[in-house]
Amino acid sequence: MTRTATSAFMADVMLITLDNPPVNALSNALRRDLHEELQRAFEDAAVRAIVLICAGRTFVAGADITEFGQPWQRPSLPDLCTFLDDAPKPVIAAIHGTALGGGFELALACHYRIAALSAKVGLPEVHLGILPGAGGTQRVPRIVGVEAALEIITSGRRIGATEALSLGLIDAAVGDAILRDEAIAFAKRVIADGGAMPRIRDRTVTVEAAHARSDLFANFRKANPHRFKGFLAPAAIVEAVEAAVTLPFDDGLATETALFERLVASPESAAQRHAFFAEREAARVPDIGADAVPIDICAVGVIGAGTMGGGITMNFLNAGIPVTLVEMTQEALDRGIATIRRNYEATAAKGRMTTQHVEQRMALISPSLDLGALVDADLLIEAVYESMDVKRDIFARLDGIVKQGAILASNTSFLDLNRIAAATRRPACVVGLHFFSPANVMRLLEVVRGSATSKTVIATAMKLAKRIGKVAVLSGVCDGFIANRLLAPRGYQAEAMMLEGTPIAEIDRALVGYGFAMGHFQMMDLVGLDVIGRDAAKRTVMGDLVAAGRLGQKRGAGYYDYDEKRRPSPSAVTAALIAEVAAAGGVAGAATRGDEALLARLLYPVVNEGAKILDEGIALRASDIDIAAVLGYNWPVYRGGPLFWADQVGLGRVVAEMRALEAVHGEVFRPAPLLVRLADEGRGFGSLS
Ligand code: CAA
Repeated sequence: MTRTATSAFMADVMLITLDNPPVNALSNALRRDLHEELQRAFEDAAVRAIVLICAGRTFVAGADITEFGQPWQRPSLPDLCTFLDDAPKPVIAAIHGTALGGGFELALACHYRIAALSAKVGLPEVHLGILPGAGGTQRVPRIVGVEAALEIITSGRRIGATEALSLGLIDAAVGDAILRDEAIAFAKRVIADGGAMPRIRDRTVTVEAAHARSDLFANFRKANPHRFKGFLAPAAIVEAVEAAVTLPFDDGLATETALFERLVASPESAAQRHAFFAEREAARVPDIGADAVPIDICAVGVIGAGTMGGGITMNFLNAGIPVTLVEMTQEALDRGIATIRRNYEATAAKGRMTTQHVEQRMALISPSLDLGALVDADLLIEAVYESMDVKRDIFARLDGIVKQGAILASNTSFLDLNRIAAATRRPACVVGLHFFSPANVMRLLEVVRGSATSKTVIATAMKLAKRIGKVAVLSGVCDGFIANRLLAPRGYQAEAMMLEGTPIAEIDRALVGYGFAMGHFQMMDLVGLDVIGRDAAKRTVMGDLVAAGRLGQKRGAGYYDYDEKRRPSPSAVTAALIAEVAAAGGVAGAATRGDEALLARLLYPVVNEGAKILDEGIALRASDIDIAAVLGYNWPVYRGGPLFWADQVGLGRVVAEMRALEAVHGEVFRPAPLLVRLADEGRGFGSLS
């Protein structure tokens, strides 16, 4: 068996190297090997100090998440940290890459921490629905104080070496290339200075300072409601940090462990871990292997400087990739570029980038009114009006301009990519790159594979997505691709229930209660009712609202009335319009009442659509559908996405309730064949992977 921890002796100093690719996660095997190496070093009289260092791209990235849910094997990570606390010789952690979660906690249990300047540390467990379970909630407040600790642990943010040094989380930061040598030199200095072994657990100043401030924790909860809504972990983190203040160290640790055990067994954490792996799994396309070598994308062309085109452009500027931005009129071009600048300046005003960075990014844009300027681009993205004729015309023209091998991408959100590709003589180079609005913020990128799209093009798109910070999900061609098609039934049902007499505020409240940031009608009002395309042939409430000048939040009136602080309240005008439209359309039916019934009506059709998308092969796997919903539509991550959630409800129950709904509301609730098959077999979507 290959050992994951090995030692080398360097005159007085034992260098223990952890080597468990890809990210040195603290698996059962690594913990066992590390424990044995430490034991040996503790017992070896020739060893006077120990350096813990990692091979490969990073220091320890945390506990091994793949082993969660299995029985813990000894030594556990907390055992290992206690073993370090009791070390008879100084131990120095040498950090490169990222020391995250249990990895950082391991370092915190050492006597000293030295890091490469490019290294980052952090406790991101909150994103997995858990808390740092190896002393992080007890040690960090003892270093940085309670308020800073609450901020660091409930945000899960990564902290660069320079900031970590100023916070005292590390003791030294050195050039990347000299980390190993400097760590050994550090150890030798410690030995020469008498071999002091300072333990974070023994520090009391900061936690004692918090004793007199009993309101601190309540204030923190009140000030950060967005971190707490629906999530279990942040409240548990506050409780654990509070224990660091009120209890002796070992009792605080016991509280932390109990809270950790509770969280790790919760459906919320299971859902968040599912999302973590779903995000990474989505990058894998089974039929695309090492033979499909991605093209280097050095220059991009974006056609259309509207909201989408501008947002798309920013992604590439942020990654340092130059963009030629093409519009039809000077005015539209100027407006688009001014919007990009305004966005960057707003970020700079919040202190999140420097003005120098703003200028560097803006300098990467080459504006043009001529498609001919795109001749050297490696990737062209069309982001113009959603019209098949307009898009086909642009693609045909691009075909005559751009260089051989360039990728031609459309940002269409529902049009048939194969028809767009057929307008060129190079359909193999055509792909869909469907960004979600705001395109510089939303992390989902649907990569749409046409029937002729080459493997090289798909491989390039998947790789590029990661480079620009997106999560790519591969989709086949269909109306709405994955995310829009998936969520469309939620909107139809919301509108159907509205016409049947269910108050829109109740529908929205059920969605917010489930965990969405806002309800369907609030979202429509936010986007703007005039912006959302409607079937002009049919009388709709939305059409009537637009005709009445009620365009949404921006006008202070849409489905809801809004006060000057943009707080919604029910509108008598809207209620009257709903009644009129329902009467004109002969809508019968009773109002749906109660969150459970509302959610079944709103969300089961989404699950059903997901089953169809999967069965048709539009999505590669169930978890891709989940991550598309989470990242494209802000489906609450602690629900794991629609299919993960349906598995938790139980597919048998979903099918039975859908059949009952089908009896009343008809075919839209007929369970999809895949759903029925899985339910009959007593399986879930998760069993398909
Ligand atoms: N356990 C198991 N596998 C992990 C892992 C972990 N903690 N972290 C990453 N991996 C795996 C990924 O699943 C991925 O596997 P595949 O290649 O098979 O898809 C591989 O390592 C590489 O990961 P990324 O693709 O994410 O690589 P990256 O270079 O973009 O990012 C990283 C590296 C910053 C470490 C990122 O993987 C990350 O953020 N990991 C999670 C860190 C984390 O949450 N740590 C806390 C764990 S919980 C804990 O420690 C609890 C405790 O207190 C006891």
